[in-house]
Amino acid sequence: MALPLEPVLAHLESDKAGALQRWQELLRFPSIGTDPAYARAMRDAAEWLARYLAEIGCHAEVRDTQGQPMVVAHQDGPGNGGPHVLYYGHYDVQPPEPLELWQTPPFEPTLKDGPHGRRMVARGAVDDKGQLMTWLEALRAWHAVYGELPVALSVFIEGEEESGSPSLEPFLAAHREELGRADVCVISDTIMWNVDVPAICTMLRGLLYVDLTLAGPSHDLHSGLYGGTVLNPLNALTRILGGLHDANGRVRIPGFYDDVREPEGAERRRWAELGFDEAGFLASVGLRTPAGEAGRSALERMWSRPTCDLNGIWGGYTGEGTKTVIPARAHAKLSCRLVPEQDPQKVLAGLRRFLDERAAPDARIEITTHGLTSAMRVSTDSPYLHAARRALAATFGREPALIGMGGSIPAVEAMKRLLGIDSLLIGFGLEDDRVHSPNEKFELVCFERGVRSHARLLAELGGLA
Ligand code: BES
Ligand code: MN
Ligand code: MN
Repeated sequence: MALPLEPVLAHLESDKAGALQRWQELLRFPSIGTDPAYARAMRDAAEWLARYLAEIGCHAEVRDTQGQPMVVAHQDGPGNGGPHVLYYGHYDVQPPEPLELWQTPPFEPTLKDGPHGRRMVARGAVDDKGQLMTWLEALRAWHAVYGELPVALSVFIEGEEESGSPSLEPFLAAHREELGRADVCVISDTIMWNVDVPAICTMLRGLLYVDLTLAGPSHDLHSGLYGGTVLNPLNALTRILGGLHDANGRVRIPGFYDDVREPEGAERRRWAELGFDEAGFLASVGLRTPAGEAGRSALERMWSRPTCDLNGIWGGYTGEGTKTVIPARAHAKLSCRLVPEQDPQKVLAGLRRFLDERAAPDARIEITTHGLTSAMRVSTDSPYLHAARRALAATFGREPALIGMGGSIPAVEAMKRLLGIDSLLIGFGLEDDRVHSPNEKFELVCFERGVRSHARLLAELGGLA
């Protein structure tokens, strides 16, 4: 006999304040994974999560890696042959800088009013602490009401997602037996179509992220004494990088588009039917004019076309006032968002060629790779996806949109390649949540609907037995 869902939903309704409190506790850890100065906060956050999981009936552990600790937990299901579900999330957050732009401190979670009601403002509010709390709270409610879960459960929460998940592959490879038992992986780390329309993400872009250094003279030089006679690394690097795109916004890296597939007609039609408001999208970030590849829709440019973007560029003197100097080196951080079928290694080789072909004889260009993540497409026709559809439709009273996503989540591809597990990406963020930016927020209405969706999804998945 399937356990009824209603008591679980009623329990959630009665414990909303508790859920907010637990979420705020997690947000108070400054778990900035990329900065070694926050190692203590990382461990504390991981231990907090393990304690939480133990409270809801899991066997939970914090496991050490070469990098940040991982949280792993398991709980037996009803033993009825139903699916074994693996939940994935990340407790690391992006650095909060620039701090002066935060209206309230990033690690002092604060409830504020907005057009959709109350919202939680903090670093990690939505990415990914708030989102992982949506499924944790759903699991908590099932456990509180029935003392057991409708499915067999595994949980895997990492602390390196925002750094490209360097320890993930070795960890999954070493725990293939343990984690590979699951039938499907559930992730909440993406966004909805809008506040009323839920979404299942079926495509994630991949990422190639590199540091570039162009080195010239052996040391910094007086720009009067040497200017006009020697290689200036900043001039040289910006000139090369200025040529990365042609006048139509196409990337000029050799072979960049070789393996890029055009979306199928049906997919293109589905995207057109979504009725994306590009003007509104641009207006929400203070712009009016579309950019990127000419002749392609906004959703296509965002979801199914690769990109190349400078993320930072520096060198020479950037302080107050002036310093007349020709710097010995120039630096840039560059990322390419990749689409399915593109091989990150091949793109990297193309980038190397692009730079080398344009470098002056004395210019030495060094490339340091930070991470290579392939893009990912998930099946739109699995029993799990249909279960998610039903759970979202019943919670929101609206069919979920099937969307792509311009961002990346390295675990999705790794989980498929190393464990053979498909992911179900059901996220509850909004486009304007200011992820990775000051004043990151998560609407309470999204959080609460997220929790209820997960509670319902558990019932649906349990029903697949
Ligand atoms: N949760 C995001 C991915 C995302 C971004 C989903 C925007 C929905 C909207 C994830 O935490 C993230 O930021 N990923 C990084 C991955 C990178 C560091 C390897 C990204 O996409 O930049
Ligand atoms: Mn995330
Ligand atoms: Mn992120």
